[in-house]
Amino acid sequence: MDLYLDTAEVSEIREIAAWGVLSGVTTNPSLIAKAGRPLEPTIKEICAIVGGPVSAEVVSTHAPEMIAEGRRLAAIDAHVVVKLPTTVEGLKACKALASEGIRVNMTLVFSANQALLCAKAGAWCVSPFLGRLDDISWEGMELVREIAEIYQVQGLSTRILAASIRHPRHVAEVARLGAHMATMPPKVFRQLIQHPLTDAGLEAFLKDWARAGAN
Ligand code: G3P
Repeated sequence: MDLYLDTAEVSEIREIAAWGVLSGVTTNPSLIAKAGRPLEPTIKEICAIVGGPVSAEVVSTHAPEMIAEGRRLAAIDAHVVVKLPTTVEGLKACKALASEGIRVNMTLVFSANQALLCAKAGAWCVSPFLGRLDDISWEGMELVREIAEIYQVQGLSTRILAASIRHPRHVAEVARLGAHMATMPPKVFRQLIQHPLTDAGLEAFLKDWARAGAN
């Protein structure tokens, strides 16, 4: 499973990319607005840092405009994956952009049937939003399980990008379910490497070594 950052903060991306385990980045209009920089140079810079798929989302809501905007986003860099909302207009735009060879990430997926339709429209990947389902007392993980099963049984090649991840257990669970990618905020990405027993164990090793005055 590839690990992605869900942010448009270039400094965070640069720092975590240096770990050598980052495959891509996802952004959305809220994240771009939060970063406070213009979309195009920000996406270009992120692409240069990660050298992998970078999702950039359209803000149009009707297919013709979505298609035009998607083409403009795809022209920014070869790594750009065009992100479209999972609506009827989004499906139409997905079909058109996919037929031009543009990779599409269908976002705001909250049901298995939406994911099925996205695959039929030629999406490169779908983004089920786990955390937002959990927020309304639904089981976000069940959605990923259902999509993974349907795609496998039906032989659909659309990838699953688990999104709206809120904590490290979400990451391990979606990996178990066979998600192809998981995108998470920098805070959760950093939590993946942390374990108190690792810290305590290392501290004890170094203390023992120093006490022994060894080499
Ligand atoms: O980028 C899409 C998704 O990951 C958003 O997550 O935390 O805003 O629900 P969140």
